[in-house]
Amino acid sequence: MKGYQNSFEQSSLSVIGGTPLEGEVAISGAKNSVLPILAASLMLSGKTRLHNVPHLKDVTVMLRMLNALGVRAEFNHSDGVTIWNEKKVRHLAPYDLVTAMRASFFVAGPILACRGYAKIPLPGGCSIGARPVDIHLKGFEALGAKVDIEHGFVGLKADRLVGTRIPLSFPSVGATENLLMAASLAEGETVIENAAIEPEVMDLMNFLNKGGAKIQFEVPNSFRIQGVSGLKGIDEYHVIPDRIEAGTFLVAGALTGGDIRLTGVHSQDLGSVLALLRQAGVHLDVEDTSIRVKGGTPLMAVDFETEPFPGFPTDMQAQMMSLLCVATGKSRIKESIFENRYRHVTELSKMGADISVDGQDTIVTGVPELNGASVTMSDLRAGAALVISALAATGESTVFGLSHLMRGYCDFPGKLAQLGARIIPR
Ligand code: EPZ
Repeated sequence: MKGYQNSFEQSSLSVIGGTPLEGEVAISGAKNSVLPILAASLMLSGKTRLHNVPHLKDVTVMLRMLNALGVRAEFNHSDGVTIWNEKKVRHLAPYDLVTAMRASFFVAGPILACRGYAKIPLPGGCSIGARPVDIHLKGFEALGAKVDIEHGFVGLKADRLVGTRIPLSFPSVGATENLLMAASLAEGETVIENAAIEPEVMDLMNFLNKGGAKIQFEVPNSFRIQGVSGLKGIDEYHVIPDRIEAGTFLVAGALTGGDIRLTGVHSQDLGSVLALLRQAGVHLDVEDTSIRVKGGTPLMAVDFETEPFPGFPTDMQAQMMSLLCVATGKSRIKESIFENRYRHVTELSKMGADISVDGQDTIVTGVPELNGASVTMSDLRAGAALVISALAATGESTVFGLSHLMRGYCDFPGKLAQLGARIIPR
């Protein structure tokens, strides 16, 4: 895995700015939905077929994880993945896969629920923050598991998981998902309070319920789960569209002054993003499963803070900052979810952006235009923001660190090129 990554680390994109993006783009399945759903498939005995699965490096890593745990899982010839779960899953998750992708920690809940014990490497932090898993572990303890952390591994043990009330200290997406999975096979009733309610969490709930789980969502942010004895494979399950990929293309269309129509989206999942884009002067025609963005209207400064759903998503913060770099006026941004998610600021500044950072706040002062530069992406969403900024900049840019994009966007350079972007992988 390391070698594969290194080969991509050196690769880069050459981007010639100034071409408005035009045409139609189909939005792929949601990365942050398919990863927990694949982990949950460890709990469904028999065959399961998933559709609308994006071909991403992170999905490939999760498939390798499932196979390492004893479950056969592979891309099938059409648009999805088939999983054959015929025998007991192994309890030990491979170190290299968990450290390669933090979302691999989603297998903790399923293995604990199926085996009664699990040994998972502690996922490392990443460029956007320390990303601890204390909320996950407190939830497992509440369900009756004994938690040991030694030599960089988390050991979980429970003769049986017993349902209980679990108030989360923060609406963590991953912790909510891990606990939904574990509680599905616990004895009795579990209520998860102050839960994350992102569309991807709802997609996981729907997937588990189709497999025989008994989970109810209760407004505003709780899940009530009646434990069952086992779950069964699902013939056909369609993963929801990726709202962050959709938001990224909307910003790209507005920033380049283009005219793009997105298809295969769930517009209702993008409420806060659409509202903020409109507030910034972006012209949008919104239907249930398609959105048209027309650039060319004057962009205005707006203030925003990243929040748990339905607030403005942290995964769109960098892309929105790119747009505001060339909006008229000063915008104030507050990143309230991750402690270190401003590493794109220095790179945008190389392109002529005027941004000042003060802790979790940034002030973006709009400039008339950005100029091409050599920049390096530090994480998935920062990378997307740099690429779309380069598309709008005057002149040529080189964007390094392509491996980050490959992790979470399905053929991002290819989709942009189809819209007329002058973009060449180096
Ligand atoms: C999920 O990460 C997403 N990843 C992230 O998307 C997304 O940014 C994040 O949710 C927030 O929406 C996947 O779904 C695979 P959290 P997750 O637990 O579950 C702190 C992308 O670009 N926290 O909601 O790890 C944590 O440090 C990625 O696609 C604890 O303190 O996010 C962070 O500051 C990036 N203790 C905040 O909560 C815990 O036990 C939100 O984390 C868990 C989290």
